[in-house]
Amino acid sequence: IAGVPGGIERTFIAVKPDGTQRFLIGEIIKRFETKGYKLVAIKAIVPSRTLAEKHYEDLKGRPFFNGLVKYMTSGAAPVIAMVWEGKDVIRQGRRLIGATNPLEAQPGTIRGDFCISVGRNIIHGSDSFESAEKEIGLWFGKSEVIEWEFGNAEWVT
Ligand code: TYD
Repeated sequence: IAGVPGGIERTFIAVKPDGTQRFLIGEIIKRFETKGYKLVAIKAIVPSRTLAEKHYEDLKGRPFFNGLVKYMTSGAAPVIAMVWEGKDVIRQGRRLIGATNPLEAQPGTIRGDFCISVGRNIIHGSDSFESAEKEIGLWFGKSEVIEWEFGNAEWVT
């Protein structure tokens, strides 16, 4: 599902509910799009508790886990779930997103430009090939991920 490691990969990117509420969906899509990546799946979804817990299962037992799941599932605004495709998109996506800790997220990154709180950091991105594989499968059915090619100039001339 996640493509070829180090080649054309796919990664799971999600605008979290605070990002949606703060009108940052367009900004986030724009950064991946203008970097050179291809959007191959997208939907607005309020995840179930089960889905959110599976998504963050590695963090089960951490003190912030319950709060994290509550925030993701609150329904105050949807999560915008996406799959992006392209060369090295898993690691490059993490670079575009920036560090988890707001004090370490460099200006110029998404979190560096828009976040001050670790618990409200507006965006998720898979942190490895294995996570991408797991997360894409968790959030999307096979038929929701679309294969398409850039640059059909006939439509824009
Ligand atoms: P993590 O997977 O460590 O970071 P990332 O989102 O950069 O992959 O943590 C998942 C989310 O958990 C993180 O985006 C925000 C939340 N979180 C906290 O609320 N407090 C914390 O101390 C940490 C480490 C994470």
